[in-house]
Amino acid sequence: SVLPGGTLSVKTQDDGALITSASNLAKFPDGFCWGLATASYQIEGSPKVDGKGMSIWDTYAHIPGKMKNNDTGDVAIDHYQRYKEDVQIMKEMGATGYRFSIAWSRIFPSGTGLANPKGLDFYNRLVDELLNAGIQPFATLYHWDLPQALQDKGGWQSRETAECFAQYAGYMAEKLSDRVKNFFTLNEFQNIVDMGHRGVDMVVQGKPVHIELAPGLKLDNQALNQVAHHTVLAHGLSVQAIRAMGKKGTKVGPAEVMFCGVPIMDSPEHVKAAELATRRLNARFLDVMLTGKYSDAYLQEAGKDAPKFTEEDLQAIGSPVDFVGINVYIPKMYVMASEDESGYKEVPMSVSHPKMSSPWHTFAPEVLYWAPRLTHSIWKPKAIYITENGCAASDEISADGNIYDTDRVMYLRNAMGQLQRASAEGVPIKGNFVWSAFDNLEWSGGFGTRFGLVHVNFKTQKRTPKLSAKWFKEAAGHNAVL
Ligand code: NOJ
Repeated sequence: SVLPGGTLSVKTQDDGALITSASNLAKFPDGFCWGLATASYQIEGSPKVDGKGMSIWDTYAHIPGKMKNNDTGDVAIDHYQRYKEDVQIMKEMGATGYRFSIAWSRIFPSGTGLANPKGLDFYNRLVDELLNAGIQPFATLYHWDLPQALQDKGGWQSRETAECFAQYAGYMAEKLSDRVKNFFTLNEFQNIVDMGHRGVDMVVQGKPVHIELAPGLKLDNQALNQVAHHTVLAHGLSVQAIRAMGKKGTKVGPAEVMFCGVPIMDSPEHVKAAELATRRLNARFLDVMLTGKYSDAYLQEAGKDAPKFTEEDLQAIGSPVDFVGINVYIPKMYVMASEDESGYKEVPMSVSHPKMSSPWHTFAPEVLYWAPRLTHSIWKPKAIYITENGCAASDEISADGNIYDTDRVMYLRNAMGQLQRASAEGVPIKGNFVWSAFDNLEWSGGFGTRFGLVHVNFKTQKRTPKLSAKWFKEAAGHNAVL
């Protein structure tokens, strides 16, 4: 039996089968959170039930041509109605944490003003169900479904959206923090801004990939930088609101898709280059949130397109956080040391670099080591969560009815092995949330891109745990990479 980190001898049982001693496992620290993640629009359905207001995704998904196969989240996996069953499945999988998002427009149907008690009631019931199942709830306050009423008033281009977000965040902390101890503010600032307000182009294995998210705008550089500024301002103001309204001990931090520059090798000059690159790649988001200022390099490069901001904005944006959540899937680039002014150079990714099944997903599990290690060495946050990590796969149903997602299992054990290495080296990683608990609506990619550890038949809504769900349960049970 080959196990990562294994050094001790392997014993043989009486029947000749190999067993491994517990100390042979690549263990995580005690209390490590084995989490699963989802987001409201991707799973809930019921867009008009119990007084919910429309969100930008309810609008966008109905624009012809925007979604693969014209899929929408109108039903999704019907989690709004089936949440009890879903919590039981996650309990059965041995999850100790669940990261879900709250649909802002269920709570404030028009983004601000009067709260809708029935919307809040759903999340109260979900949280109670989770706690009864022994699963810690981690609530994300914004996972992309902006109330349409706020979009109509300018959306993230308007500073007021940041202020409305803080009011909503304070309200949620007041109502839930007796039971929800951990809040994430916004999910993936970089993608909200760039994919939602311009569209992002990349080349993977020599093929062009274009990704757009709601509201599907095409802004110029200054407007885009201003949108970015309003998202981090929303984060900062909401941290303050949560501190003011939440019970003592309520914890909060961002959940950002970390743009990691992975060094081509672990030697001091290339690691230094990776730190420089990573700081630069996250200039508009993690860097300003964790240092309270925009770097000179960013402001100089943006020039006349730099965002307009005040000193008070920066103070709010830099409000101390309890942890940093990072979503980690791919290296943004590989880097090496360079003599030029920036100190680093991007190394182009080979056309034959292997990939997982989503179009953008290069297979590079070492990013699960480098992203937390660099986050730690650059910004030294108190604690780090991997708020997302996982992959899509083809997930055929075999003749025996099982889904043997061997590629996802291969992915997870490699990725988690790299994460365990960072943890064992002293990076304060508190937990990992696999994206995703269930197959769901992969935004404009539709339902065909399956990320779940649990298979969902989108016609019958039948849930079937895949092989990876069994792997997860065993690994969580041993608190180790298996
Ligand atoms: C990041 C997003 O937060 C999540 O909503 C999405 O489905 C996954 N990545 C996979 O693309």
